[in-house]
Amino acid sequence: MFDIKFPVIGLSPMDGVTDAAYRFFTNKEGKPDITFTEFVHVIGLCRGGERLWQDFIFHDTERPVVAQLFGAEPEYFYHAAKIVCELGFDGVDINMGCPARTVTEHGAGAALIRTPELAQEIVRQTRKGVQDWFETGEVTGIEDHIRARIPQMKAQRRMLAERNAVPFKHYSQGDERSLLPVSVKTRVGFDSIVVSDWVKYLLEVEPAWLTIHGRTLKQLYAGQADWDAIALGVQTVDGQFPVLANGDVKTYDDVQRVLTHTKAQGTLVGRGTYGNPWWFKHVQQLKEALAAGSPVPEMFTPSWPAAKQTMLDHAKLHVELKGPLSYVQMRKNLAWYVSNIPDANELRRKLVLSNSVEELEEILA
Ligand SMILES: Cc1cc2nc3c(=O)[nH]c(=O)nc-3n(C[C@H](O)[C@H](O)[C@H](O)COP(=O)(O)O)c2cc1C
Repeated sequence: MFDIKFPVIGLSPMDGVTDAAYRFFTNKEGKPDITFTEFVHVIGLCRGGERLWQDFIFHDTERPVVAQLFGAEPEYFYHAAKIVCELGFDGVDINMGCPARTVTEHGAGAALIRTPELAQEIVRQTRKGVQDWFETGEVTGIEDHIRARIPQMKAQRRMLAERNAVPFKHYSQGDERSLLPVSVKTRVGFDSIVVSDWVKYLLEVEPAWLTIHGRTLKQLYAGQADWDAIALGVQTVDGQFPVLANGDVKTYDDVQRVLTHTKAQGTLVGRGTYGNPWWFKHVQQLKEALAAGSPVPEMFTPSWPAAKQTMLDHAKLHVELKGPLSYVQMRKNLAWYVSNIPDANELRRKLVLSNSVEELEEILA
């Protein structure tokens, strides 16, 4: 799995949250070992939905950066995988865990736990798409006007890279062909825990790694993630590929606990990073402490002036990438940034009612 030193500690995909600006700042202020995009529907991608292509904007600092796809149509995974390769991503992840009814009623996301043969075929077709693209460089199944988006996306990435020059380690230039790993992210069951049986199906198609969120579909995001169930998944995989444990990891102590409990090779952190692009700042020290068996380091807390600057920069990049109307999406991030500040009710109220970067500048002045 790339050349990441275990345990892998990465940023989990979150639709409506881990967009390009969120990922950019999470990788600038800290450095997750791996970053995932929001999930993108395979048919929408092939048909050129503008919003979906926006979800696949990324910056080179995020590398290794993995594009996540969802759907229930293997033939579209084949074509979508080629697009992901051509856009210069470092991996393709398949969502088999989303519990949203709009997704599962079409047989996608966590519904695939109930149709394991279809899930297997999706992995095979995705891998075939990656392999065919690697051999031929051809993108198929999309119309010419959509194909024209690909060089535009690459140019946008270069523009971002040049303007926001920050040191980073190259995993790939994104312009030369490499055989991308195909991974899966899933849950421990549909309405009950069936993780062992389910994982056995996935073993047959050998994903490059597997992320297991310790909840069933029925649990949505409620209750505690079941780390015992994740441990069962790790046991079933039995070292054939890395497993990343996911769910309710909020602090560095949690990282240590989940890894000890599940014996997984890493973890992905989702909601714990809300309003905290500094979450991964001390992650390398954390990994060293875990290896040495010494106490985990403190998490980083920025000064208020530094936090304000990041909030403003985040809002500016968000609007630049998605347009002025998208400012409303930024409000939740602003509220999260101040969620741990005591007596900040008035500030929070102003932030969630703000309508533009200019207003934000005034509020934070
Ligand atoms: C708002 C939101 C959006 C999410 N979108 C995705 C997604 O697009 N793809 C995915 O695999 N998981 C998605 N998830 C699930 C998270 O990646 C993660 O599995 C879950 O939140 C549990 O981890 P956590 O407790 O660290 O947040 C989403 C979760 C949330 C809260």
